[in-house]
Order: sequence, then C-alpha cells, then structure tokens
Amino acid sequence: MRTPRAVSSFLSLSGLLLLAVSVAAGSKGYGGDGAAAGSNGSGGQEGSYKVPAYQKPVAGLDERYYEKSCPQMEEIVGRAVMKAVKADETLAASIIRLFFHDFAVGGVDGSILLDVPGHSEKYAQASRTLRGFELIEEIKKELEAKCHATVSCADILTAAARDAVASPAVRGPYWTLNYGRKDRKGYFSANTADRDVPMGGQSVTQLISFFEKNGLNIQDLVALSGAHTIGRATCGAVRPGLCKRRKEGGALLLLDRQYGDFLQRKCRAGGDGEYVELDGETPTAFDNQYYKNLVHGKGLLDTDQKLLADSRTGGFVRSYANQRSQAFVGQFAQSMRRLGEAQVLTGNEGEVRRKCSAVNY
Ligand code: HEM
Repeated sequence: MRTPRAVSSFLSLSGLLLLAVSVAAGSKGYGGDGAAAGSNGSGGQEGSYKVPAYQKPVAGLDERYYEKSCPQMEEIVGRAVMKAVKADETLAASIIRLFFHDFAVGGVDGSILLDVPGHSEKYAQASRTLRGFELIEEIKKELEAKCHATVSCADILTAAARDAVASPAVRGPYWTLNYGRKDRKGYFSANTADRDVPMGGQSVTQLISFFEKNGLNIQDLVALSGAHTIGRATCGAVRPGLCKRRKEGGALLLLDRQYGDFLQRKCRAGGDGEYVELDGETPTAFDNQYYKNLVHGKGLLDTDQKLLADSRTGGFVRSYANQRSQAFVGQFAQSMRRLGEAQVLTGNEGEVRRKCSAVNY
C-alpha cells in the first residue's frame, strides 16, 4: 500500500483538460433580488488550493491505480462530464447527488447504478429524482472499449462527481483522487435505501449518526451539506418540512417570512413536481451563500436549516457563513474525498462490472 502524496493541489479541471468551455453562470435570486452567481468572486477557484496531508490512507486505493492499466481513464471521464454538463448544466448537481446516494448505502460501490426494476436501490422513493445514470453508463462503455474489464463503476462515479464540481457549470474545487474501488456484486433493496438515505425529515442527531456510521464526522456533515449551494429540490421533498416550520415557527425552525411566502406560492402553483433552487440567492455559484441563507432563515430543506440551531453543527455553519468562501470550498473538497473513500470495497471484496447497471455473471 502506498501513502498518497502528502499534499494535493487543487487545480482547475478546465485548465487540466485544456478544454475551453466557457459557461455563463448567471442567476436570479428567488425573489428577483439575489446576487448574480459568482458575483462575489468567491465561487469558482482561481489559482490553486492546498489541502493538508490526507491522514488515513485506505488499503487498496491508490492515486496511480490505473497508471499502467488505463492511463487515459481520468481524461475519458473528464471529457464526457464536460460535454454532458455543457449540454445540460443542471446535470452537474445531479451527478454530485448520485455520488452521495451511492455512498449513503454501503459506501461508494456502484450499487445505486444497478438496475433491477422495482427492487434495487435505484427504485427507492429516495432515488425518484436521481439523474445521471446514462452518462455513467456511456463512460463505462467507452472505458470498456479502451481498457476492457479494468475501471470500476464506483471509480467512474467518484471521478465524475469530482469533475462535475470542477466543471465550468459549477466552478468548484478540483482535488486528486485515489482509485481502486470495486463494484458490489449484489444490489441493496429499495427499502434499504429508503431507510438509510437522508431525505430531509431527519433530526440533526440522526444525520450525525448516519455520517458517523459511515466513517465521516460532524464537520464533514456540515461541509458536504454545502453541496446544496447549487442544484434543485422538488416541492414534494420540501413541502413537509416547510409546513412544519411555518406552523411551529420559533427560533429553532427559523423560516424567513418572505422566503416562506415565496416557496408556498411557487409550490402551490407548480405542485409536487415543481423545482425550487436549493440556494435561492446564488443558485448556480459554488460559494458559501448556502450557509448565509441558513443564518437568515432561508434554508430550503428542514434538515439544512436545523444545522444552524444545533450546538454541534451551528458553529461550523456560522463559521462558513462568516469566512470567505474558500474556507468552505477547501473543506468541501477534503470531505468529498473522505466520502469517496469511506466503506469502499477493494481487492476481492467486489468486482469490476462490465456494465454499471448489472452485476457480472
Ligand atoms: C445531510 C443530509 C442530506 C439530505 C437530507 C439531503 C436531501 C436532499 C433533498 C431532499 C434533495 C432534493 C431532492 C429532490 O427533490 O429532487 C437534495 C438535492 C441535492 N443534494 Fe442533498 N441531501 C443531503 C446531503 C447531501 C450531500 C452530502 C450531497 C453531496 C455531497 C448532496 C448533494 C445534493 C445535490 C447536488 C442536490 C441537487 C440535485 C439536483 O439538482 O439534481 N446532498 N438533497
């Protein structure tokens, strides 16, 4: 087992791939008065960041895992993600979420990608609005053609999520990855996913224990929840928490009145399938606005807003809200890497699937 490089530098993916894709990331606030995305200049990464040494190397994972067997792996994944996100910017957030949902049940093992109609994780209520499956399968197909039976679906999804964060549509950080994850040989049931994947109704204690059970800590929970600085939620997922907050009110379940009215109007008109931006102020900027929103009672999900009031998480929320975006961005990158290495299968514990949607036979 090799110790990963002591220091990983963040570089812009676009710089790495030399792909000159420029995307205008304009945005409107939820009420029309939000700042333009990236207008504070803190969302996208300029120059490079340094992360501290990664403390606990995972046996079987290595930065150079595909160096000989599939040296073009990262380039193939990166190009495919860039192309897909250029065609549909909303896909970037969806790929990041797909990665989180894969992690949430059994670690990042490609189990979310298995397609057993009506039975597997993909068919859970919690998976209803997941997207990005086709992109991962397309990448897999290309990698099978170039490096047969070599690159796992779990590694593809991990790299794709990282590249989605760094893509021009999101302009978040880029971090180096260790590879060597194997794919799970069986599927988890839809019921298991609905039991395990947090979807907005949990208490902070439940969220903390979910993260801790999966090898992550409270700071990871707060930093990774910052993924909600981009992307969308459906009114169906938002409504229960919103009704509760409106009814109960009070400091604990703070809800800005104007924001609450806006959400009620939007969801009443559009129904459960209507989309609402998770960060109503700068919905497409990868910045610390999500935390500022929580401080002002403008968290969209009940679980997000609760992070402010709880003494175990509130300090992190305030600190990310008060510092420059870089503090959050750096921790997010680190926590994403931890998320991608927690509970993974390596060596003989899994397989390299030929197709991401089915186990080998
Ligand atoms: C802490 C517990 C979490 C809860 C309760 C939660 C819940 C949710 C819910 C309810 C949605 C909207 C789903 C819909 O209606 O379509 C959502 C969206 C999203 N979540 Fe989370 N989430 C959590 C953590 C995370 C983490 C750790 C990440 C990534 C690191 C993440 C990334 C995203 C993204 C990017 C979206 C937007 C997806 C899109 O626009 O397609 N979430 N989340």
